[in-house]
Amino acid sequence: MSQTNFILLGPPGAGKGTQAERLVTDYCVVHVSTGDMLRAAVANGTDLGLKAKAHMDAGELVPDALVIGIVSDRLSSEDIQRNGVLLDGFPRTIAQADALADAFKELAMNPAVVVNLSVPDEVLLRRLTGRRMCRGCGAIFHLDRDGVDAGDKCPSCGGEIYQRADDRVEAISERLSVYHKQTSPLIEYYSAQGSLVQIDGSATPPEVAERVDGALSAKGIRKCG
Ligand code: AP5
Repeated sequence: MSQTNFILLGPPGAGKGTQAERLVTDYCVVHVSTGDMLRAAVANGTDLGLKAKAHMDAGELVPDALVIGIVSDRLSSEDIQRNGVLLDGFPRTIAQADALADAFKELAMNPAVVVNLSVPDEVLLRRLTGRRMCRGCGAIFHLDRDGVDAGDKCPSCGGEIYQRADDRVEAISERLSVYHKQTSPLIEYYSAQGSLVQIDGSATPPEVAERVDGALSAKGIRKCG
């Protein structure tokens, strides 16, 4: 199987979504963001959305069994089997990482390269409080850098710009604390397997992209174009 698979790790606001938008184009892989899937489920009022909403708004993780279920279903789809996947926001616990390893084995998928974006908490807080998103195309903006605010029209698709419910200061501090307790142990987990690429994510988006490309190229992973 010639597919290349990626996992993007990092705290809330590290730039996973921002880098994912570009990586999926440059490396021709399928983007799977558990955050986006869960937000769509909430917006559509599905059973999953109803179960996930309170956890998400409070900045807590959604229970493992729910998230593992949606990712496992998605991985077996034909587009991922052919092109490979970029997982953004999954796994987030050791139990999720173990379940992912089982799913990869069962589906005979190539092991993933794990890109960890590290950024100090004070920078994350500034990024998250200023983040604005488009309800139409999902584009990610920042109040200071892009000059768009909630209620404006998206410069790309004309959709409504909004602020995520979990980008309030109280929810952000809970998300950072959950990250340090439950997700950061994955750095050691993947480092011990030799699959981790460490990237300082505190530079500008194009600089971070260049660092990621350089690290992937050093591992023999080339862009698809
Ligand atoms: P999710 O949507 O995955 O949120 P997150 O991990 O908290 O990550 P974010 O989307 O907040 O940040 P990001 O790293 O993508 O940063 P972004 O590129 O947007 O999850 C949301 C919730 O869903 C979770 O809290 C949980 O409840 C639930 N959930 C999801 N997955 C789950 C799982 N596996 N298990 C259980 N529950 C799960 O950038 C942020 C801002 O910074 C933007 O404004 C951007 O423009 C700006 N920015 C980005 N990069 C840079 C840069 N280099 N320099 C300056 N500004 C930058």
